[in-house]
Amino acid sequence: MTFDRSIKIAPSILSADFANFGAEIRAIEAEGADWVHVDVMDGHFVPNLTFGPPAVKAFRPHVKTFMDVHLMIAPVDPYIEAYVEAGADLISAHVEAGPHIHRTLQAIRAQGVKAGVVINPGTPVEAVADVLDICDLVLLMTVNPGFGGQKFISSGVAKTRKLRSMIGDRPIHIQIDGGVTTDTAPLLAAAGADVLVAGSAVFKGGSVDESRVYGENIRAIRAAAEAARG
Ligand code: DX5
Ligand code: ZN
Repeated sequence: MTFDRSIKIAPSILSADFANFGAEIRAIEAEGADWVHVDVMDGHFVPNLTFGPPAVKAFRPHVKTFMDVHLMIAPVDPYIEAYVEAGADLISAHVEAGPHIHRTLQAIRAQGVKAGVVINPGTPVEAVADVLDICDLVLLMTVNPGFGGQKFISSGVAKTRKLRSMIGDRPIHIQIDGGVTTDTAPLLAAAGADVLVAGSAVFKGGSVDESRVYGENIRAIRAAAEAARG
């Protein structure tokens, strides 16, 4: 993957049909998804449970683009290798998930995949200042992690702007996760975000049999974001 700041739409399969992941992944990619976002939750760091490494491994053959694995688990270090073996292209970990985010990011990169650092709505962007040089992506949560379909927390827009200035010309993506819609995407894109995760806003109204709706949703979010970039 060569680095650029073009708008990328990363549908979260947390909003997909859980009985049909292979077809759902193929459908969103055929309809224009740039990345596939996989939300891993442990029922401890966040109040929900989702995908272990065998599930992620089963998704892998269906993903032709880029598999972005968002780990909402603590501790995280013992599981990095298993998610790399499952086929992640990028693994992101929360600063709030343990005392040693620097070590975690080093461990992710040492496995040969891209590393992302995540901050919750209650964490200031300054918390990532000293790890920017060892990561490929910063993920700003604009909902409290755990569930799809929550209300966007608007302080994320100012945080995006601040983070964009902290990053300067370094090749680090700014990804936003939570409540991304055609209303919020323009604010985020104008503030400097380039990777937009969207669960409910991509999957709403569609299905594998009506996948053109996924395409309409993806194109609408992308168009709103790109228009705000000017
Ligand atoms: C929340 C997850 C998100 C979530 C986004 O913990 O990290 O990826 O699925 O869902 P929407 O786009 O519905 O807010
Ligand atoms: Zn996520």
